[in-house]
Amino acid sequence: MKDLKKLGIVVFFTLLVYIGVEPYAHSVMHKHVEGHNFKYPDLKPIAAKGNPETGKALAAACMGCHSIKSQGVPAPMDPVSASGAYGVNPPDLSLIGALLDEKYLAHFLKDPVHTAIVAHKFKDRAYPMPPMATDDQSAADLVAYFKSIAPKEVKPKEAYEFACGRCHEMRYAKWTQIGEVPKTKKNIQTGADLAKLKFNEKLAEYKGNMVKYLGKLPPDLSIIVRARSEEFLETFVEDPQSQLPGTGMPRVGLSKEGYEKVFAYLEEVGDPSKPKREKVGPIVLLYMVVFAFLAYLWYKHQWKDLH
Ligand code: HEC
Ligand code: HEC
Repeated sequence: MKDLKKLGIVVFFTLLVYIGVEPYAHSVMHKHVEGHNFKYPDLKPIAAKGNPETGKALAAACMGCHSIKSQGVPAPMDPVSASGAYGVNPPDLSLIGALLDEKYLAHFLKDPVHTAIVAHKFKDRAYPMPPMATDDQSAADLVAYFKSIAPKEVKPKEAYEFACGRCHEMRYAKWTQIGEVPKTKKNIQTGADLAKLKFNEKLAEYKGNMVKYLGKLPPDLSIIVRARSEEFLETFVEDPQSQLPGTGMPRVGLSKEGYEKVFAYLEEVGDPSKPKREKVGPIVLLYMVVFAFLAYLWYKHQWKDLH
């Protein structure tokens, strides 16, 4: 009986720390930011109904800066030259209809700098993408066009590359802002890997341009899922200013499903053993319960004659 009491006390304090103190300390250290489930309540709904045919004609104006690979439209420049011209490489537009929130995209096309909430960074210089839609109707037409070419399925990796990949490296997945790290070979005689050196030189140039543009080098996101909570990441991507006022990271405008894809990729790269852990977890718990029960029986048996 006495032993059960002791066990009870240990369990009580363990639970107190786990359920009470830890989350409390956490909430004091990190301010709580209310999420909006990627609904963007600050943006007014767009009532106009878009026509994809009209939108297709308007989209010709995007091709001066963006590729639309699924439609056979190549990038007008390589990523490094584009970063020289604009600060970053404009993303490919094939997937925007599948990954971005519709309302966000319409507003972004009318007024990119305010919709992305980066006007504070562009007080005395122009945002590299000019407004592309003059009214709700043309914005809705463009959105309708990009939705009409959106694929049904988008892979998590593709979602990451579109939404974050022009700014954030992911070295664990061999991803850099100018594409995948090439598989190259060292020269047997000199020991040098010229292709890799050339690639690194280009990457450094891109990063230099990006730092001038954003004021800061965006961090590598390989293990961000371990450094930051799920809640932080979600509310930060939904509205970076809410957690880091004054930051140069834009509001990207992902839909809920779009964000889930991106997050799945961050998790896949940063915490690849998670699915396995989750599968093994219940088995370990079951084992511990059975083992504790057997240990208890054994303990009773040992002390039976001594009391
Ligand atoms: C003069 C060049 C230019 C033109 C023309 C242009 N864009 Fe852009 N666009 C950019 C640049 C540069 C960026 C990246 C800006 C950044 O990330 O800071 C960008 C970013 C975007 C984004 C990403 C926004 C996000 O959520 O992160 C979308 C979507 C987009 N453009 C759509 C379009 C569409 C659609 C058109 C045509 C109707 C178009 N752009 C025309 C330069 C351009
Ligand atoms: C146009 C460039 C750009 C894009 C696109 C972008 N980011 Fe960022 N991001 C930045 C910059 C710049 C910072 C550094 C912020 C700072 O310290 O001010 C940053 C910081 C971050 C941080 C670190 C926050 C912290 O304090 O730990 C996370 C996490 C992050 N970004 C996630 C993402 C994700 C996920 C995406 C894609 C959905 C994304 N970013 C898209 C530019 C970008």
